Amino acid sequence: MLRTVMTAVGLALGLGFGATTAMAAGDVAEGEKWANRVCKACHTFEAGGRQRIGPNLWGIVGRVPGTVEGFDRYKVADLFVENGVDIWTEDLLTEYFTNTAAFRDKYAGGRPSAMVLPPLPEARAADIAAYMATLKD
Ligand code: HEC
Repeated sequence: MLRTVMTAVGLALGLGFGATTAMAAGDVAEGEKWANRVCKACHTFEAGGRQRIGPNLWGIVGRVPGTVEGFDRYKVADLFVENGVDIWTEDLLTEYFTNTAAFRDKYAGGRPSAMVLPPLPEARAADIAAYMATLKD
């Protein structure tokens, strides 16, 4: 619903929301640019990429949080699951990237994590989430 409204508003303003696929609210190319800038210090994105401070993010959309094989330093992702984040969707990732601290308050009792990310504008978070959705075969 919100996504439909955002897409409509985005199209009306010529911002390119929804230009990538019928489903996506974010702009994949913008998302890739920002992910390379903001996330690469801690994450790899390609299939079989190595674990860094954070897990490899290939195939993250549609995955149960905290289940990347070979990454054993989760502090909060298992709590996300216990508190109702069954599967990473673009919407949930957008919420996570918009304000990771607020997301941890909501889904992990405010526990700290080594994912230190300043709050992002929601549109930018949505772009990054849209890029995440392309990380699959
Ligand atoms: C300072 C390092 C750091 C930065 C910067 C960072 N992350 Fe993370 N990320 C982590 C760590 C560590 C975890 C594991 C969280 C936990 O459970 O403690 C994580 C977890 C995640 C998860 C959940 C993975 C899973 O298996 O459930 C996603 C998705 C994610 N990060 C995406 C991003 C994106 C996109 C960015 C950039 C916008 C980003 N991260 C920036 C360190 C980082």
